[in-house]
Amino acid sequence: MVDMDKIVSLSKRRGFIFQSSEIYGGLGSAWDYGPLGVELKNNVKRLWWRDNVHLRDDMVGLDAAITMHPKVWEASGHLASFADPFTGCLDCGRHYRADHVEEARKNSKWWQKLTEARGKGTWSAVINWVKGDGKKLAPNLASVKQAEVFSKRDFSGHPEPHQISESEFMKQVGGVDSLCPSCGGKLSEPRPASLMLETSLGPVQETATKTYLRPETAQGIFVNFDNVLQASRKKLPFGIAQIGKAFRNEITPGNFTFRTREFEQMEIEYFCMPGTDEEWHQKWVDERFQWYQRYGIQKDNIRQRRHEPDELAHYAKGCVDIEYLFPMGWSELEGIANRTDYDLRQHSQFSGKALEYFDEESKQKIVPYVIEPSAGADRSTLAFLVDSYHEEEVREEKRVVLKFHSELAPLKIAVLPLLKKNDRIVETAKQLTANLRQRWYTVYDDTASIGRLYRRQDEVGTPFCVTVDVQTVGDDKAPADEKVTIRDRDTMEQVRVSISALEPVMEKLMAGKWAEVAQEHGIKRT
Ligand code: GAP
Repeated sequence: MVDMDKIVSLSKRRGFIFQSSEIYGGLGSAWDYGPLGVELKNNVKRLWWRDNVHLRDDMVGLDAAITMHPKVWEASGHLASFADPFTGCLDCGRHYRADHVEEARKNSKWWQKLTEARGKGTWSAVINWVKGDGKKLAPNLASVKQAEVFSKRDFSGHPEPHQISESEFMKQVGGVDSLCPSCGGKLSEPRPASLMLETSLGPVQETATKTYLRPETAQGIFVNFDNVLQASRKKLPFGIAQIGKAFRNEITPGNFTFRTREFEQMEIEYFCMPGTDEEWHQKWVDERFQWYQRYGIQKDNIRQRRHEPDELAHYAKGCVDIEYLFPMGWSELEGIANRTDYDLRQHSQFSGKALEYFDEESKQKIVPYVIEPSAGADRSTLAFLVDSYHEEEVREEKRVVLKFHSELAPLKIAVLPLLKKNDRIVETAKQLTANLRQRWYTVYDDTASIGRLYRRQDEVGTPFCVTVDVQTVGDDKAPADEKVTIRDRDTMEQVRVSISALEPVMEKLMAGKWAEVAQEHGIKRT
């Protein structure tokens, strides 16, 4: 698995993702999508929308406002309970999610080095660390702060450091068994921190309406349930899909675009008859699990995890996470929850407007149950980026290649002139670019030698390069053959096809039929 630093560096170098406000020193946890990043993310969202809305009879779309009536958040329960427990370091002042802090401490450099010293099996090895590396790595660890006192402690008759529990060891070196992952200082008692990002609408602070930037797109769907039902005349089961920004005042954003305070969700609220909800839940889990693999996520890198009852959100009867093996480990990509009739009932109660469905068969009004596949557009984009990353050795050189599915690739075709000083080659290449661009995002590039141009396109995941050479346009020695070379990104194989056949051939290639095309036109050379 590639490490995240390589992804961050490639993203910046090739224009996928930049640090937000970088020229001002950057804003932690906010990221901007560059020229290729915006294409990739748009492709993720387009495929999600196409597959979940356009290709289904039982779905419609919605685009609700980010700011909503403040009562929405009372009704949804977010104001009362959308919070994470956090803890702060009493020494360096850093904050952590209380449920993540233990893992962060275990992964910290200071703890790992101290654990090595502990593993040597004597207190003198620990004392050496405290007086040496500890000063730099964990300056606020109690034993480091008072290294002289600690080094004179009498450990005789005391079990050796590897013979005591981890929590006892922490108390010995840090005074408490909950220590700061950054500096080794003492952590405060955990308390809840609301994740809601407050804002006010109106020019005068005193009279402005206080509200929140939505923490999930879902509520825009619930409050529009009746509008959509009346306008679309859909019958149960049916779903409403929405893609849009959401905001959370995360305590510990990080891991590149994985956890940020501003992000984009792709959510479906699928309304069904009570009693059919379990069946629909399973169907959506299967569908969404397949979706990622359909667009290239390798099956060993994706898995399902059912929530334990004690981790379910306040509205959920059941939830299955789709997890991806990100560089930092298995983490949530999408959650598929059974939200029951909780939200429609809450909004009916708080707004006084019935949110019901009239069932023609039983002639009764019912409150539908809801299955919610809720994906992150940024996390999906990151997963597709990470999964596509490959390093290979080609002719004793490292080749970095992003093996995107052709539907996801930011650029679909690059047209490359073999000689940029030959006017006929350049003119033909530019004309081809203009023609292909009508169907696929195509770029023209003549700014380097052909080998470098291929590597550049490999590194941004362009599935096909089309090369125009002397044979294509002819010269004094030979007439034009009016053929071009197409190179496949993944195999680096090449075929030579007539310009007149280029579009139908490209259509086959975009559909993944390289082998068929190669058989028809013959492999040129590799
Ligand atoms: N409406 C349900 C809901 O919002 P969630 O599990 O909190 O459920 C759904 O969020 C998805 O939104 C997550 O699986 C993730 O992909 C994305 N997401 C949530 N918080 C995020 C954050 N801070 N940064 C980036 N993506 C986030």
